[in-house]
Formats: sequence, structure tokens, C-alpha cells
Amino acid sequence: MSKNSTITILGAGYVGLTTAALLAQSGYRVFVVEPNPKRLEAIKSGRSFFFEDGIDPIIKQGVESGTLIPTDSYEQSVPDADVIFSCVGTPDNPDGSSNLSYVFGAAEQAAEYMKPGVVYVQKSTVPVGTGRKVIDQFKNKSVDVQYVSNPEFLREGTAVYDTLYFDRVVAGGDDTAAVETVLDVYRALEAHRDDIAALAGITTGPRKGLYISTKLNSAELIKVTANAFLALKISFANSIAMLADRVDADVVEVMDAVGADERIGRAFLNAGRGYGGGCFPKDVSGLISSALENNVDLEIMQSAQAVNGAMPGYIVEKLKVELGELAGKKVAVFGLAFKAGTSDTRKSPGVAIANLLVHYGAEVVGYDPQGNEEAREDLHDSVTLIDSPDTAGPIDALVVATEWPEFRTLSTETLHTVLGENSVLIDAVNIYSPQELRAAGIRYIGVGR
Ligand code: UDX
Repeated sequence: MSKNSTITILGAGYVGLTTAALLAQSGYRVFVVEPNPKRLEAIKSGRSFFFEDGIDPIIKQGVESGTLIPTDSYEQSVPDADVIFSCVGTPDNPDGSSNLSYVFGAAEQAAEYMKPGVVYVQKSTVPVGTGRKVIDQFKNKSVDVQYVSNPEFLREGTAVYDTLYFDRVVAGGDDTAAVETVLDVYRALEAHRDDIAALAGITTGPRKGLYISTKLNSAELIKVTANAFLALKISFANSIAMLADRVDADVVEVMDAVGADERIGRAFLNAGRGYGGGCFPKDVSGLISSALENNVDLEIMQSAQAVNGAMPGYIVEKLKVELGELAGKKVAVFGLAFKAGTSDTRKSPGVAIANLLVHYGAEVVGYDPQGNEEAREDLHDSVTLIDSPDTAGPIDALVVATEWPEFRTLSTETLHTVLGENSVLIDAVNIYSPQELRAAGIRYIGVGR
């Protein structure tokens, strides 16, 4: 595929918009299709509709130079495309399986306008076996298309960095040439990455990316397996944290030493309030469903899921031990996004904790540096949101539920001011030093410490 080729990205969520914005800086003409008028307007005016480090300058440059073309029209964007990336949402059904209506819907609509020989790339996270169904869908419409699965590994908050300085790109499909075409797109991106990082204002990374081509079904399974394993590590760390709480050990010290073993690694062994977000909870339940459909009982993942589901309750229990009855107590929850660096509050443990506290009768004040607005929808109506951490007023307890630098760097003096006399600090992400805070007279409670 030549550098002046056209790429069309279906869906402008975290994955689609990041991919579109970056590829539009790599020598391609890129259409990004977004049906939501509010989101589309934001992109057309050169910015993202979510908070993500470094993305706005790249969108702006792309839109202004004409290499990034936001549209809601398949008719406009698909006919010229040499490669189409499907990045539509795959929300979970109430039974935990993935809702694939957008995946099939996008393929159905694109098939109306695709030119012969186009490469159709699935970036949305789908259960293993979905690609074969989309291929059948294309066959039924008699369109000449090559299908490739290209799973996405970017993290929210570091989406631009992760896409530029990837550990690996995986592409799987039946046609070797089509798989190579997809890998070439990333080679082009890699060739421009330091310039793009400079435009985004983010730091550059080391060169380490691997290009991996696989069978179609392997590629689909790689994505969910990677996320499931990371989720498993977190639930494992949380299980050990519960034991550490009972035996007066510090889970941070334990995991620092355990993770120093290169075979294990330190990443994703941070105990706390459990994982949230748009990926881990959904991918774990999706994998469990896929396994069950194939008569495989993934008990290990069911356990990881159960441990995770119990963590917000475990945090609230700690508060009950400290405060007794929660009814009438005033508690502040800092950190409503599902992690630091994002405004995303989907399946956020901080929100779950705040709502549980309301359930037990507490008066709850919430704060997040970026996530207040998104959190409102999922928070109980009685939760008051504040714009600055020092306006929480007199409280009985503070729960810190994400590792935002703004919280991490709070001095003991500021913490004293926020907390007032005698109130408790629950560090649900283990970001503070228990020794330091206790020495400063703060009633510090961590998870597994
Ligand atoms: C994840 C994967 O990391 C990424 O590769 C994939 O493409 C999408 O899913 P993301 O959901 O953006 O990315 O966030 P991630 O940084 O992985 O964190 C997920 C959740 O786990 C967060 O709630 C985070 O706070 C929590 N977490 C992470 C822990 O509780 N402990 C840890 O040690 C690490």
C-alpha cells in the first residue's frame, strides 16, 4: 500500500480516534466515522471529546491540514478506502457476553460501499470466532475483501504513547499479503513516531516493538488473554493483600520483592480497590462466556472476577471497622475515574465505593481531577461533587481511590487540613507511605499493609 493511500476508521472511541489521529500523521489520508453529532463536532473542531494526554494537538493538526477527515457518512468515507479499521464499541450484555451488534452493523454498512480488494481490519475487541462470522457476512454479500484481526493493546491515559511505542503489533488472518499490509501501516507509523510525539508533547520511548503475524483466531484470542492475565495478576495481588491484612505484612513490600523475579514481573501486582474500566471487566466476562460456549470452564477467571467484585465492599468494611456505623458519617471519595490519567468512569471502583457508602447511610462528597462530569451519571444522586479537594469540609473519612499525581503528591500538612481532627484516611490504591503518614499523626489504613 502506498503512502498516499486512504484509511477509513469506523468509530471514534479511545481506540478509533487515537488510531485515526496518529495514522493521519503517518502519510495517509484518514477518514474517521463517528455517528454521534456531539462527538463529531468536537473532532471537527480539532479536539477529542474525552481527556487523553497529547491527543488534541494531533487531532487539530490533522483536521487543519486535511489529512484527518471526520464524518458520519459511510458513503463518503468507505469507497476510496484501501484499508478499513473497525473500532466500534463492543459493550457487554447483561449475561456477560459481548454485544456484537455494532461490529456486524459496521461491516454490513461498509460492505455497501467497499471497493474490491479492500483490507477490512477488526480492532474492536471481539470473542474468538467473531472474525469467521464477519467473513461469512461479507461472503453472503459477495464482496471481495480480505479480513484481518488486529487487536489493540493501548491503555487509556497513555493511548498516544502506547500506540506509538508499542510492545507488539499483532495481525492475524488467512491472507498473508493482507496481514503484511496491516503491519506496513504500523511500520509507517513507527517511522514518524518521534515527530508525532513531539507534536503531541509527550515523551518519546525506546524502540522495542515486535511485529507478530498469526492465524485469525489466535489474534482474537491474544487480546482477551492478555487482558485476562493482567486482571488475574491484580486479583491475585488483592487476594494476597487480604492475607497480609490479617498477618501484619505489607503487600507492597511483598509484591516489590516477588515482582523482582523477572519471570513474574512487578507490573499489575498493585493491590487496592480492584480493576475497572471499559476493558478488563468486559474482557474477563467475555472470555468466560467464550469458554463456556466451547464447554470449557474457566474457573480461574471466575475466581478473579469474584475477587474483583468484592474489593469495593472490602474497602467499605475497613471504614466500618474504623468508624462503626456509617449512617450519618461524612466521607469524601477522591478518584472517580477508573484510574488516573483519564476522565473515563466506566465500571469505576471509586464510583462503586461512593455508592456503597451511600447505601450504608453515609453522606458522600466526591472529587476527581477529570472524571466529575462523567461520574455524575453513575453516582447516587445524593453524592455531592466538589471542584477542589480542599473544599470537602469537615469529614470523618477520606477514601483515595485512584493514583492521580494530584493525590499522590498531597503533603502530610494538606492531608491533615483535608482530614481534620481524628478522621481516617483509607488509601485504596496504596499510594502513600504508611510509616510517614502514621508518624505525622494520620490515621492511615491501606489495603494489605
Ligand atoms: C487495559 C490494558 O492494559 C490495555 O492493554 C488494553 O488495550 C485495554 O485494557 P486500561 O483499561 O486503559 O487498559 O487500563 P489499565 O491501566 O490496564 O488498568 C485497568 C484497571 O486495573 C484500572 O482500574 C487500574 O487502576 C487497575 N489496576 C492496574 C490495578 O488495580 N492494579 C494494578 O496493578 C494495575
